[in-house]
Amino acid sequence: MLKGKSLIEPSDFTLEEIDQILSLGNDIKNFPSKYTKACEGKLLATLFYEPSTRTKFSFESAMLRLGGNVIGFSDANTSSVSKGETLSDTLKTIECYADIAVMRHPKEGAPKLASKAIEMPLINAGDGGHQHPTQTLTDLLTIKSLKNDLNNLTIGLCGDLKFGRTVHSLVKTMARYENIKFVFISPEELKIPKYIKEELKNQELFETRNLEDVIDDLDILYMTRVQKERFFNEEDYLRLKDSYILDKQKIKNAKEDLLIMHPLPRVNEIHTNVDDDKRAVYFYQAKCGMYVRMALIMKLLGVDLNA
Ligand code: NCD
Repeated sequence: MLKGKSLIEPSDFTLEEIDQILSLGNDIKNFPSKYTKACEGKLLATLFYEPSTRTKFSFESAMLRLGGNVIGFSDANTSSVSKGETLSDTLKTIECYADIAVMRHPKEGAPKLASKAIEMPLINAGDGGHQHPTQTLTDLLTIKSLKNDLNNLTIGLCGDLKFGRTVHSLVKTMARYENIKFVFISPEELKIPKYIKEELKNQELFETRNLEDVIDDLDILYMTRVQKERFFNEEDYLRLKDSYILDKQKIKNAKEDLLIMHPLPRVNEIHTNVDDDKRAVYFYQAKCGMYVRMALIMKLLGVDLNA
């Protein structure tokens, strides 16, 4: 039962629950008009303590397309945090008004802490360099809708694997499916954290610095932005920011059915000359993000049109 639950990490949900969300997301994607009143009278609060375009807009459009309403802030300085209010007090207050909340926060663990103060469902929309579970649901819906399966895949993750929370959530989740092979492509300084690798006991994994060496073997290539905001000094960022730039030439011999994904925003890591390639699915992925969030909101609010 997903009703009333919070989503802080992808492991909060069983694979069966994830599957229920993906199936509903897929139905909403195919028949959006069925759902235009699903959340009528319900209110979603969006608490963004860190910048966001896609995630915030996708949650807002998700709720509005379900017939619900949205309140929130996208700059912590305009909220009572600037007066010194604790996270728990902010959440307890918002719970008096809203039915469900979404939070993005620069501090790892902040949404988890906040969820303990309240009864209403809270969704983690990214906590520092830690986790980003709704991006993972987005990624899974994208893959499942295009490959029909989440098993038997070789998935390459390229770029900032150290600070990239989308990578951490996706790897931990994909590791729960069958026969997944991980290829981690990064500079030495941005390697996947040990604590994530330690969970991959039953998976084949390969680490390399060189994208060209492995690209032709991949079913999925998940490109990521170097996370400027998590660096301690500008010099390191400038040295590493253009470590990988995917272009037309590099995908010339890659598989016909490769999926080139990116959580967005991109900086330089995918040249715009890749955008027209049918294997480039990052804007489709952004669209899946809205549908899967519609499904998530419905499930956590316990809205079931077939009941
Ligand atoms: C990602 C994030 O915020 O972690 N963006 C997103 O939510 N789509 C990726 C990023 O910022 O690089």
